Amino acid sequence: MPNLIRIMTDKEPDFHRKTVHLINSAFPDFAFHGAVINKYWRNLYERFADYQFGLFDTESNEYLALGNSFPLFWNRPLEELPDGGIEWALVSSVEQNDHGTQPNLLCAFQIITSPNMRRAGLSYKAVEIMIDVAREHGLGPLIAPVRPNRKSEHPRTSMEDYLAWKRNDGLPFDDWLRVHLRLGGRFIRICPRSFIVENSIAKWREWTGMEFPASGDYLVPGALVPVTINLESDRGTYVEPNVWTVHEVRE
Ligand SMILES: CC(C)(COP(=O)(O)OP(=O)(O)OC[C@H]1O[C@@H](n2cnc3c(N)ncnc32)[C@H](O)[C@@H]1OP(=O)(O)O)[C@@H](O)C(=O)NCCC(=O)NCCS
Repeated sequence: MPNLIRIMTDKEPDFHRKTVHLINSAFPDFAFHGAVINKYWRNLYERFADYQFGLFDTESNEYLALGNSFPLFWNRPLEELPDGGIEWALVSSVEQNDHGTQPNLLCAFQIITSPNMRRAGLSYKAVEIMIDVAREHGLGPLIAPVRPNRKSEHPRTSMEDYLAWKRNDGLPFDDWLRVHLRLGGRFIRICPRSFIVENSIAKWREWTGMEFPASGDYLVPGALVPVTINLESDRGTYVEPNVWTVHEVRE
């Protein structure tokens, strides 16, 4: 195991440049083109610097994991967390911050580990640190619109069915859901419209290298659900479901 130290963005002037390789390696091309997320996510580093962390390996002198999160105010039951998932949460957080609203919980944006360090247990450490970040800011619980990482291998399976898939030991089939569950996370509900990418067919061709000769649903590598192509309106639409998950933050 490398010798890892936690570094917060506000203590590392060049944080984004030093960790962007993790982001670039984590998701398929099309996932970098969600209009709402692209408009708002840079706010994390500008407004909420003390909520972003990296795990820095002092031996190789590189960042091996990244955790992004933001504060949020929500006073309704957690069971009512909205269908809009990560997009709703991020926009709400920025707007609340603009209005000076005091947050009461922390929302996860993403956790990414280095492709060279996968299956070494780093993701467990990263979730635990995010819970620490919530505690240090007096926020709780930590909520996360979780993107189940193996769902892309089963894009035609509904998220409801996928969530019910278990291994022989009774734990979730999905790696990332398993991590959350093992750390005490509770799955609340599916947020069916968490992340949306919509653009012209030419753009989808460019991002995927695929041809779309007729209107209909297409399986795109890395996508959790099919992408709907409409040639008449020249639109390709991806609506990603995630799973609202809650981690209590204890003193
Ligand atoms: C999802 C992710 C964070 C997991 O990180 P990781 O460091 O590989 O995970 P860990 O080593 O902590 O292992 C977590 C679990 O996944 C399993 N796992 C990880 N990679 C696996 C693989 N390729 N095949 C099978 N199982 C795998 C591990 O065995 C472990 O399960 P277990 O504890 O039941 O044995 C990482 O794959 C990643 O960064 N992916 C890209 C970004 C992403 O999807 N982030 C999550 C949404 S924001």
